Amino acid sequence: MPYPPSLEVLKERVERSRSRRLQERHPRLTLDEKQELISTYHPDFVAGRMRPLAVGPSKGLSMPLELANVIEGRSHLDPDEVGELTPDYDVDVLIIGGGGAGTAAALTAYEHGARTLLATKLRHGDANTMMAQGGIQAADKPNDSPVIHYLDAMGGGGFTNIPDLVEALVRDAPGIIYWLESLGCMFDKEPDGTMATIHLGGSSRKRVHTAKDYTGMEIMRTLRDEFRSYPDLMLLEYSPAIELLSDGEGRCTGAVLHNLETEERTVVRARCTIMATGGSGRLHYQGFPTTNHYGATGDGLAIAYRLGAHLIFLDSMQYHPTGAAFPEQILGQLVTEKLRGMGAQLVNVDGEQFVYPLETRDAVASAIIRECQSRGRGVTTPAGRLGVWLDTPMVELIHGPGTILANFAAMYRQFYRFGIDIRQEPVLVYPTFHFQNGGLVIDAHGQTTVPNLFSAGEVSGGVHGRNRLGGNSLLEILVFGRRTGRMAAQLAACTPPGRLTLQHVARFEKECRAAGLRERIRSPVLLPEYRRPVR
Ligand code: FUM
Repeated sequence: MPYPPSLEVLKERVERSRSRRLQERHPRLTLDEKQELISTYHPDFVAGRMRPLAVGPSKGLSMPLELANVIEGRSHLDPDEVGELTPDYDVDVLIIGGGGAGTAAALTAYEHGARTLLATKLRHGDANTMMAQGGIQAADKPNDSPVIHYLDAMGGGGFTNIPDLVEALVRDAPGIIYWLESLGCMFDKEPDGTMATIHLGGSSRKRVHTAKDYTGMEIMRTLRDEFRSYPDLMLLEYSPAIELLSDGEGRCTGAVLHNLETEERTVVRARCTIMATGGSGRLHYQGFPTTNHYGATGDGLAIAYRLGAHLIFLDSMQYHPTGAAFPEQILGQLVTEKLRGMGAQLVNVDGEQFVYPLETRDAVASAIIRECQSRGRGVTTPAGRLGVWLDTPMVELIHGPGTILANFAAMYRQFYRFGIDIRQEPVLVYPTFHFQNGGLVIDAHGQTTVPNLFSAGEVSGGVHGRNRLGGNSLLEILVFGRRTGRMAAQLAACTPPGRLTLQHVARFEKECRAAGLRERIRSPVLLPEYRRPVR
């Protein structure tokens, strides 16, 4: 579906102002302007859309209503009915989640001699990792250093990040790139064979490593291929965890899995468990579309919380500034920040720039919402949605013909399927839900506040503070996947197998009843609500 005549007319305004804008650099926001913009327009600040938890170890912590309902939901299991549990699998390390974090953790635990089982909700690799486009940060160039990377990440997070976690992130980063390359990951290279790196919002050096605009897919391919080369590395697909198990004294001892195809339950006893279930975009906060994978329903947060894991920063969600606003078929899908990193500007209905394109995401998303909702300078799509233009043809004007196909093959195809050629025409974008900044509290080895339970990737909180920089998520999953895999394997070697109880679930239920929580949904929800929920 190419642009209809109503949009063709508006598109001409973008084309008319392009040569002037090529010479124009929009001023950066001051700190005060940025704070004012975010607190007025960012969805996290919309009144009535958050509530505090009423029970549990992080009682009082505020978060989106949709997520609070999942975290305080009712278990699929009745502890009184389930009785004594006998294990179907007995392993050293159980990993819950088959995206990048879980797979990196599994490979590392296995490398360290652990009997390792990875259980995943859908197919191995069906995860947000696979959908990541922009790239992965690592300070491995002569003009850069982990210290500068640290400062950028802290600045991006408004200096709310947990310093030890950021230190782990930036210190391990160059080694992660080296590890991926050694496994066969094909990063973009300069003609002299050195790594090609780009800017994303908030990074003061070009340190984002890419594989065109499907970096996450290339990383996931590499990890999954490696995983499959070890036949005794165990994998259960279509088997999400519906509850963790405990020894009755607060330690995690495994999980109950629910097979989505056969509806059978599987009990896994594990000396250590690693939570790597990813984010929660498919809860569609405030009705926003999302860039997230189908399975991103916040499962790990719910089941870890019942076992006593503390949570942090869940009142802070990331809306990616540029989700597709047209056509409807791709609503909310990611339009990578790499386009802005290579010169594409954000332009309103009058053909004017209104924000510096590489401000941090919280600021750019807020500026787009302000332009559309409050200043009346958005573009209305045929479906009645608002958006602004992302002037993609600027990329080739700046970097030369062929740049789009060489660097944005996936993005080109995403729009060309609908008759829009991003080399010649701008695209319409609007913020889309992208990332859960907060999650389970962890230390620098990914240990949660529950003994023998680790966590890696988006389900954890603290690494990015209240706003993640582009390219630090693919990095986080691998840094903390590796760290948790190593620590869990080491700890498992000196941990006896534990009892398998659901006493913590019974306790949590009692607390919810005492707090007067009623009409609770069943959780984890496992699939988005527009699909059949698990029974
Ligand atoms: O815009 C992007 O490509 C997103 C990257 C990220 O979230 O790290």
